Amino acid sequence: MKQFLLRDTLIYLNDTSFNSINKWMNSNNFDNVFIIVDKNTNIHCLPILLKHVPLLKSSFIITIDPGEASKSIEKVHAICSCLINKNITRHSLIINLGGGVVCDLGGFVASIIKRGVQFINIPTTLMSQIDAAIGGKVAVNLQHYKNQIGLFVNPQIIFIYIPFLLSLSNDELLSAQAEIFKYGLIYDKLLWEKCKLESDSKIMNFENMISDCIRIKIKIVESDYYDYQQRRILNFGHSISHAIESVFFSSKKQTISHGFALSVGLICETYISYENFQFSSKKLNMIVNAILSVFPKINLDKNLDEMILKYLKSDKKNQNGLYNFTLIKDVGVAVVNCSVSDIQIIHALDYYRKKCQT
Ligand code: GLY
Repeated sequence: MKQFLLRDTLIYLNDTSFNSINKWMNSNNFDNVFIIVDKNTNIHCLPILLKHVPLLKSSFIITIDPGEASKSIEKVHAICSCLINKNITRHSLIINLGGGVVCDLGGFVASIIKRGVQFINIPTTLMSQIDAAIGGKVAVNLQHYKNQIGLFVNPQIIFIYIPFLLSLSNDELLSAQAEIFKYGLIYDKLLWEKCKLESDSKIMNFENMISDCIRIKIKIVESDYYDYQQRRILNFGHSISHAIESVFFSSKKQTISHGFALSVGLICETYISYENFQFSSKKLNMIVNAILSVFPKINLDKNLDEMILKYLKSDKKNQNGLYNFTLIKDVGVAVVNCSVSDIQIIHALDYYRKKCQT
């Protein structure tokens, strides 16, 4: 088992006997425990948690639909009503058992209900184990714009149990690969080399990879918890990917996972970085080809560009009407607060489309 500390939050990685969570539950006297799950984690993960932590057997279970549509203010209202009907108090506990959607939504609910109750995150997807569950950001979406209403608030514990990953599809595991690529590109050249190799061989040592990512995330978050400067390096690839997710989300006909959208965002923002910082085209190709060798090509019709720009305009980091991007100067070296224009974004999307044809 590995243990990390981020501010006051203890992070336990691969405590397969669930000792840490049992001990913590025994040392706290909650008057009520609520577990938020989605329909998948209800089936695949909840029975495992209840078997290993018998104290939780009398918890009240709240089940939501999986997917980004659940991160809504309407869902917050519904969950809060349910919690109040079930007599939640400030001495209750909320456990978020699920991926990024459950952790973001459940953390948001926990931090506003009764002005805040304690919560713990038990992330069940690789994506949430390396990113979403860690760092204190909780939020819901508004009008198809991602994470517009939210807070910084920390769970008491983050408990990462790697065998939960066995219930995931290949696409869900692949999705997380985009965040792992991102950590390498923004912060750690060695991690980039390692994840390139592991994605070639299709064998990943989850425990090592997750702890590498957690270590990086903790260092970055501790240097700038409220996301004004250094933490923004974590946004590399995300300005464009969030806009793409919003476009897909608002079309209602198609959906796209965060990781697949991020693969496009990483390529486009690497292209903008290449133009801004003039690194070699050999380096550009090396990065882009590594991403395209594992991710499917996403069909981004040219007529979506205008909508992508529309969603980019509400990116939380924008200042004085300018897009504020994180870019990279080199593998492992990120630069925050770079101004980027509409035309650069269009060029980057055209570059992505061209790469997909080759
Ligand atoms: N996922 C980006 C951050 O935690 O800042």
